[in-house]
Amino acid sequence: MTQHHQFDAVIVGAGGAGLMAALHASKTANVAVVTKLYPTRSHTGAAQGGIAAALGNMEPDSWEWHAYDTIKGGDYLVDQDAAEFMAKDAIDAVLELEHMGLPFDRTPEGKIEQRRFGGHTANYGEKPVMRACKAADRTGHMILQTLYQNCIKQKVNFFNEYFVTDIIVQDNVCRGIVAINVADSEVHVFHAKAVMIASGGFGKMFKVSSNAHTLTGDPVAAIYRRGLPLEDMEFFQFHPTGIYKLGILLSEAARGEGAIFINDKGERFMERYMPTLKDLAPRDICSRYIYEEVRAGRGIGGKDYVYMDFRPEVINKHKSGPGGKEVTREHLEKALPDIIEFARVYLGVDPMTQPVPIQPTAHYAMGGIPTDVDGCVLADNNKIVSGLYAAGECACVSVHGANRLGTNSLVDIVVFGRRGGKHLAAYCKSANFAPLPASAANDTIGEFDRIRASKGTERAANIRNDMQNLMTNYVGVFRNGPDMQKAVDGIRELKKRFKNLKVDDTGKIFNTDVLESFELGCLLDLAEVTAAAALNRTETRGGHAREDYDKRDDVNWLNHSMAYRTDGKGDVAVTDCSIRFEKKPVVITKYQPKERKY
Ligand code: FUM
Repeated sequence: MTQHHQFDAVIVGAGGAGLMAALHASKTANVAVVTKLYPTRSHTGAAQGGIAAALGNMEPDSWEWHAYDTIKGGDYLVDQDAAEFMAKDAIDAVLELEHMGLPFDRTPEGKIEQRRFGGHTANYGEKPVMRACKAADRTGHMILQTLYQNCIKQKVNFFNEYFVTDIIVQDNVCRGIVAINVADSEVHVFHAKAVMIASGGFGKMFKVSSNAHTLTGDPVAAIYRRGLPLEDMEFFQFHPTGIYKLGILLSEAARGEGAIFINDKGERFMERYMPTLKDLAPRDICSRYIYEEVRAGRGIGGKDYVYMDFRPEVINKHKSGPGGKEVTREHLEKALPDIIEFARVYLGVDPMTQPVPIQPTAHYAMGGIPTDVDGCVLADNNKIVSGLYAAGECACVSVHGANRLGTNSLVDIVVFGRRGGKHLAAYCKSANFAPLPASAANDTIGEFDRIRASKGTERAANIRNDMQNLMTNYVGVFRNGPDMQKAVDGIRELKKRFKNLKVDDTGKIFNTDVLESFELGCLLDLAEVTAAAALNRTETRGGHAREDYDKRDDVNWLNHSMAYRTDGKGDVAVTDCSIRFEKKPVVITKYQPKERKY
């Protein structure tokens, strides 16, 4: 029996963006947070090293330098007005978190302590700057706990372990969402004046990924399936320091504290490529050069990995610690407790006495649901969809352009979660409830019944494995036309196999067999768009490094790419493989594109 609810606003997802939005919106609106996970299990908790804000607590800094670094780091595909808003608002947002009780690390004088991170510089690229505010290497975890506690204090309504399947938009007005209660498979329709999607990323389309199993992009797929565009999906970030073979993140904070990359010959190779920032160059650049070394036969033992070395004596020998200062084992153990533990547990390697095997890992989607700086979702020709908002990794504002700087994801979620939450609350004050179609839940019920009754021959796990291999092998750090075509064709074949699923669990209680099958369908749609968008963009820019078009092409490609579903069906089932791409201009305020040198 379908259950019905009504709230002024529904927020989909309980990571940093969703909780920040909920906190601000619930000051005046009746808000429900609908989340697939228990809130404190959200992936914000996996963000480790810090949140950037030009507080200038350790050395001179300015929000203008932060904005410039973000634009340059994003290889000039960043909308510059949005980057300026973000860098300016970051300062206030971090102080707001501090006042909510977030236990930041402190300087001896009691100020928030900051560290270096890749691509963040003083005075427009002169030298690395300490801009990342941190709580050891558990910064995201602390943000999540702080925001959740404050939401509880403010009596925000939570629907935990509710899986969102559909976003109801009619005549360009959002009217609510459809969700399934994971515990009993009951369908719930939430009627709302406004909806914010804050569901995070979708990195599980790749095999080697830092993303948790739940990051399957279901609401992003729903947006696309309902005919709204997705922006810049070709840009996926590969974080240079995933644990070899597993992809689990080892924070860039290690390099902020002085870690260096080492090849098989024992060389600190980033000195050769990026003489000013070296190992603290932006992630796209580090990931590319790691694989250049591997291709040149200088991977460790000739294999496809290099070392990240943060033994204290190595940092001190290379003077790579912050400001060239000596570091001690005690300092590193305090600054990086989690990742030291991860290396010990997952690799059996003690980073205090041994170098750590690492390889680039699929980490972050720069693209997603197009929004303006207040989180309003944009349809064709930048037309706002009334009452529909998105914030965080699932959204594309676009502040990250072709490559995000480390720590700017946490900035993005708190700044745009807050801006979106405030805007949504104001919208709810003046808007009425738009009527809900009587058939709102029908597509979801139909698709879940179909999956539950599937008696085919294909296992979801096998299809997922094949998809992840295709994406990792053909749409990775280096890309080329023939390989990406293989990925697109391969995913289209997998979509056919998806129609022939075999599902064993036909019950309704915690039926993860059915839910994971639905998630796979969402990932297949998003993987197809990602691979097709990458094939479509015939240049190299940021995280999109093409071997067959190895230069940035500002004449033809200084624009965002917008992907639309074109089969005209508009339901919640997996789409029929037809995508149209359009271009949208990049907003330039002060900084004309230049070659990126660091
Ligand atoms: O390396 C890290 O700590 C990751 C941070 C980020 O993705 O911003």
